[in-house]
Amino acid sequence: MEYFSNRRTIRNYKPEKVSDSLIDSIIESAAKAPTCGNMQLYSVVVTKDDAGKKALAPLHFNQPMIEGCSHVLTICADYNRFARWCEVSHTDPGCDNILSFINAMTDAVIFAQQIVTIAEMNGLGTCYLGTVSYNAAQIAEALRLPEMVIPVACVTVGYPDDKGEETERLGLDAIRFDGTYPELTDDDIRDLYREKEAYEPNKKYVEENGKDNLAQVFAEVRYPRAMNEEFSASFIEFLKKQRFL
Ligand SMILES: Cc1cc2nc3c(=O)[nH]c(=O)nc-3n(C[C@H](O)[C@H](O)[C@H](O)COP(=O)(O)O)c2cc1C
Repeated sequence: MEYFSNRRTIRNYKPEKVSDSLIDSIIESAAKAPTCGNMQLYSVVVTKDDAGKKALAPLHFNQPMIEGCSHVLTICADYNRFARWCEVSHTDPGCDNILSFINAMTDAVIFAQQIVTIAEMNGLGTCYLGTVSYNAAQIAEALRLPEMVIPVACVTVGYPDDKGEETERLGLDAIRFDGTYPELTDDDIRDLYREKEAYEPNKKYVEENGKDNLAQVFAEVRYPRAMNEEFSASFIEFLKKQRFL
């Protein structure tokens, strides 16, 4: 349990490269994660060369972890392999629909988190890059992903060069409910977020962004409606192009 309580995202990495054999063994162990019907609806594209990272960097809004890490892992919801197996076996995979995408996405995310846990337990640092969903189509092009393959998680991996930043979490009351989901009053909601709002780094964050409270920083600065809607529209187009919709 100690690992889980103490883990942190690592964004700065030593120049030392992680061996390919360690990366492979992490991936192989992670593949023992639960998977929908044991279909393993995922794959991972490993990028370790400078040219590959350079191509990916702008698609992740030049977050420095891409070029600073040892290996970039792009984990994909992948129905391509399974669908082709069905085709060569003279049967219809029936996977050009949203349920199949959800199943593959769930598989891929579980697989990704298993990679992260095993990598961290082996002394490596990792960071997810949510930007993978913002520029999914362009990332797919850079990685030459075929139809029925969608990148859903990107994880940078390397030897940690610092201890990462301490982060806070909501209390158990906010995330665990007994039996049914309770009706939460406005005051309940305020209570659940009170500690988070009182956390010094968050107070500083609100001040730096010139906002009145933390929720405004999230809703107006980090994840504004216009941006959410713009990238949702392009993701839907990409799902159509990849033949899930
Ligand atoms: C889906 C997802 C997307 C994320 N995207 C980014 C990102 O683009 N850049 C980044 O620096 N961290 C990213 N993170 C890391 C989170 O910021 C981090 O997990 C969170 O702040 C909690 O910190 P901790 O992991 O150290 O506990 C992402 C994490 C997840 C799960």
